[in-house]
Amino acid sequence: MIETKKRIAKAIWERLHAFRSEAAEQLDPDQIAPLLEYPPSKEMGDLAFPCFKLSKTFRCAPVQIADAISHELDCPCVSRAENVNGYLNLYLSPEYLKNLVPDILAQGDRYGRLDEGNGKVAVLDYSSPNVAKPFHIGHLGTTVIGHSLKKIHEFAGYSCVGINYLGDWGTQFGKLILAYRMWGSREEVEKGGIDTLVALYVRMNNAISEEGKEAEKNGTVPDPKTSLAALSRAEFHKMETGDEDNLALWKWFVEISLKEYEKTYRQLGITFDSYKGESFYTDKMPAQIEIMRQKGLLKLDQGATIVDLSEYNMPPCLILKSDGSTLYPTRDIAAAVYRKNTYHFDKCIYVTSNQQCQHFAQWFKVIELMGYDWYDQLVHVPYGTVSIEGTKLATRTGNVILLRDLFGLAIEKVKGIMQEKNPDLENRDEVAEAVGVGAIVFYYLTNNRIKDINFSMEDALSFDGNTGPYVQYTYARMCSVLRRAQEERMQVKMVTLTDESELDLVKVLIRFREKVTQALHDYEPSVIARYALDVASAFNRFYHGCKIISAEKEEVRSSRLALVEASKTVLGNAFDLICLKRTERV
Ligand code: ARG
Repeated sequence: MIETKKRIAKAIWERLHAFRSEAAEQLDPDQIAPLLEYPPSKEMGDLAFPCFKLSKTFRCAPVQIADAISHELDCPCVSRAENVNGYLNLYLSPEYLKNLVPDILAQGDRYGRLDEGNGKVAVLDYSSPNVAKPFHIGHLGTTVIGHSLKKIHEFAGYSCVGINYLGDWGTQFGKLILAYRMWGSREEVEKGGIDTLVALYVRMNNAISEEGKEAEKNGTVPDPKTSLAALSRAEFHKMETGDEDNLALWKWFVEISLKEYEKTYRQLGITFDSYKGESFYTDKMPAQIEIMRQKGLLKLDQGATIVDLSEYNMPPCLILKSDGSTLYPTRDIAAAVYRKNTYHFDKCIYVTSNQQCQHFAQWFKVIELMGYDWYDQLVHVPYGTVSIEGTKLATRTGNVILLRDLFGLAIEKVKGIMQEKNPDLENRDEVAEAVGVGAIVFYYLTNNRIKDINFSMEDALSFDGNTGPYVQYTYARMCSVLRRAQEERMQVKMVTLTDESELDLVKVLIRFREKVTQALHDYEPSVIARYALDVASAFNRFYHGCKIISAEKEEVRSSRLALVEASKTVLGNAFDLICLKRTERV
């Protein structure tokens, strides 16, 4: 539709020029295109041009302007232009629409691509779980929004680097190492994998908090040398100072965790270009701290080293703890500089929950104050929280819901549904996984990212709501029609479309590029997810209203098949952008 709007804008401009040339000279057709709106109902046209927006420039009433444009508007895209209360309502020409179908087929996987990112690099930091802590439902957002944004940027021409910035450094490893030495064994960890690690970690956390409560009851504090908290800190300190035994254990724990994450990533079809986590930056921080010192940014505050941000209405950014150890923001600063020098990014995007908004605002400011002129290429993309109805998914690892268990449950349920719907399906396990995982991802991504979500498994899995199964099922339906037809459909040059549902479908298909642009600019994959629903429902109206394979006239049959193929192209391309697998058979 971007092209269409541009052509219409040009024609409108020409009419305006004929109407009052001096006023029109002040305008550019490019300024007109974005003014074209989608009317709330079909009866008001396919596009509308609000003429009141030009009243000032043309010094006359909107109705007069609309009148001037509507007469003799010379544009092949438009079959009718009506002046209604100062709005120019435009109807797209069927002739024009039908010629766009072969264009979609010719572009195939490239249809909808943008070129605005050509020659540019986008780094995306997402998923980034904290090693040895559970990979839970809270990570769903960063993982799927992050990966979708990567796909959308790639589709817009950017070269992308997806980074899993693992939380693989910090005091939690001190606790884990101590717990392992006290209560764990190699065999047990080898057998139980990440679950055993998480259980050890949780046990130590509980023990430490018990210790604290006990001391409080007695009016004391835990012993600064021999308490579990102190011993944990000591274990981490040993790691930081190069203790080989502790580093070997740490490495092993990281590997075990990664193996587990990989399973989830595989189910989602996600891969990363880099796994450089927080630990990678331990030796890269001193140089950055030195720059902050030279710029006079550092201050001592109760023993800790901070950058005062009160001038910017933010709490101070913590750089070093009083014992000299570094902090989360310090590592982020070092990582950003490293990424800039390594990838020369034009954008570096961080996807995290909105609880971290302040953290990012603070250290972005520090980067600016350090004199890095690329501070405005750093983008934080926050999202809201997820909760789940029902308690079924509570796990042995405490009250968090693991992503793995959520996916597992969805897959099981889909298997049950499929057993009823299509008992002879081949690759049932594979399809159930694609649809089960897809249901959760899609349910999540149809919401604006910043909204808090209450997850309902039943809603997500319904095959006839606005769900993942519904769009994936529709995709499979398109594939099935094409499989049954299996003819010269790819060579279609002439397309005739006559039914209203056919034309409506084309009008939806040609909006794809516009949707990609919006999703890109707003960092909002939900635009694509909701668009997939629009495509699916327009397609289903056409499918139920028109004979396709059984159409009597050869020309109608081949045109309709071309339309099915075009719909499949657009829906498939949209799926690729939102971590949804293309399901050929369901
Ligand atoms: N590991 C962090 C967490 O789970 C998220 C990291 C986000 N990325 C970043 N560069 N800070 O909360």
